[in-house]
Amino acid sequence: MQELQTNKNDFNQCRLNQADDINLENGEIKLKVDRFAFTANNITYAVMGEKLKYWDFYQPAGDDASNWGLIPVWGFADVIESKSDDITVGERLFGYFPPAESLKLKPVSVTSGTLLEGAASRAHLPVGYNLYRRVNNEPGYNRSQDDERMLLFVLHLTAFCIHDMLESAQWHGAEQVVIISASSKTSSGLAAGLSLDEKAPTVIGLTSNRNLDFVNATGIYDAAFTYDDLTQIDASKPTVVVDMSANTDVLSRLHTHLGDNMRFCSNVGLTHWEEPQHAAGINQARSQMFFAPGHIQQRIQDWGNDEFERRSTAYVMRTIGMSRKWLKITELDGLTALAERYPDICAGRIPADEGLVVQL
Ligand SMILES: NC(=O)c1ccc[n+]([C@@H]2O[C@H](COP(=O)([O-])OP(=O)(O)OC[C@H]3O[C@@H](n4cnc5c(N)ncnc54)[C@H](OP(=O)(O)O)[C@@H]3O)[C@@H](O)[C@H]2O)c1
Repeated sequence: MQELQTNKNDFNQCRLNQADDINLENGEIKLKVDRFAFTANNITYAVMGEKLKYWDFYQPAGDDASNWGLIPVWGFADVIESKSDDITVGERLFGYFPPAESLKLKPVSVTSGTLLEGAASRAHLPVGYNLYRRVNNEPGYNRSQDDERMLLFVLHLTAFCIHDMLESAQWHGAEQVVIISASSKTSSGLAAGLSLDEKAPTVIGLTSNRNLDFVNATGIYDAAFTYDDLTQIDASKPTVVVDMSANTDVLSRLHTHLGDNMRFCSNVGLTHWEEPQHAAGINQARSQMFFAPGHIQQRIQDWGNDEFERRSTAYVMRTIGMSRKWLKITELDGLTALAERYPDICAGRIPADEGLVVQL
C-alpha cells in the first residue's frame, strides 16, 4: 500500500513509502482512495500540522516515521471490505483521506447520508473532518462533478463562512473588502460570493505580478493590484482585509497604508508560508484568526443542520458555477505523479487557473 509522506521538518520534501496492508477489526471498513484534490490548502495543513493537529489524522509507516507525516486530502474513496453492520462493500464516501492508496475507518453514528469516523485516535479532532458523506444515497449524485466538489467545495464553504461572518458584523462599517492572495481558490469563492451580493462592499484583489491578469480575467473583483502597488488602494475608505497569505510584509504595508481605516482583518490562510514572519506595522488589535470548522459548528448550533446545509449549499453551488469559466482540471496519474509536482505546489508555481486532481 503506497502513501505519500511529507517531512515534518522540511515541508518541501516528500517521499513515497510502501506501508503494510490493512487488516480490519470488527466494526471497521477498508477503503480504496479513488481521487483527491491537492492545493495550497493542503500545504497549510502541513505548516499547521503540529499546532492544529493535522498530523494526528493519519499515521505514516516506515523508517524514521516520527519525522514524517501524511497531509490530509479531500476526495472520494470506495469501500472494498467491510466488517461493519451498517456499511457494505461498494459504498462511495466523500471526505478527508490520507494521500495513500487505502485506509480503514470505524463508522459510527451512521445515517442514510453520513457517517462519523469513530476511532479513538481521532476523537479530539474537529467533527467536520471526521464526517464522511455517503454519496450514493445523495439525490442527484453525479460522479462527473466529483473533481469540482473535491477541489472547490471545502474552499468555497470556507468562503461562505467568511461572507457570513463579515455580513453579520455589518461588514465592520467597511466600504471595501481587500482580499490578499486573490488568485487562490478560497479567495475566488469569496470574491464571487461578494460580487453576487448587492449589499456587500466592493471587492479589491491583491496578488503577485504573475497572477494579476488571471485575477482581472475572473471578472469577480471590482479592481485588482499587485503586492508592489498596494498603495494604489483607496485608503480614504473604511476597509476589511481578508488575508489568505500570512505574508507579514504585505500585511504590514497594507495596514500602514490604510491607517485607521483598516477596520478589521481576518487571518484565514498561509499561502505565502515561506515568507519570514514579523509583527511590525500590523494592527493586531483589529486582527482575528479564522478557522472554518469552528464557524461551521457555531452556525449549525445557531441555525440547525438543515438550514446550514440549505444556505451554504446555495452559496457554494453559485460560486462553483462561476469558477467553471476559468478552472482547468489537471489529472495526475497516481502518487508518483503527485510527488513530482509536489515541489511546484509548495513553491506556488501551479498556474492559478489549474486545479490538481490525483487519480489512484
Ligand atoms: N482558516 C481556514 O479555515 C481555511 C479554510 C480553507 C482554506 N484556508 C486557507 O486559504 C489558503 C488558500 O488555499 P487554496 O487551496 O484556495 O489555495 P490555491 O488555490 O492553491 O492558491 C494558489 C495561490 O496561492 C498563492 N501561493 C501559493 N503558494 C505560494 C507560495 N509558496 N508562495 C507564494 N504564493 C503562493 C498564489 O497566489 P497569489 O499570487 O495571489 O498570492 C497562488 O496562485 C490556504 O492557506 C488555506 O489553508 C483556510
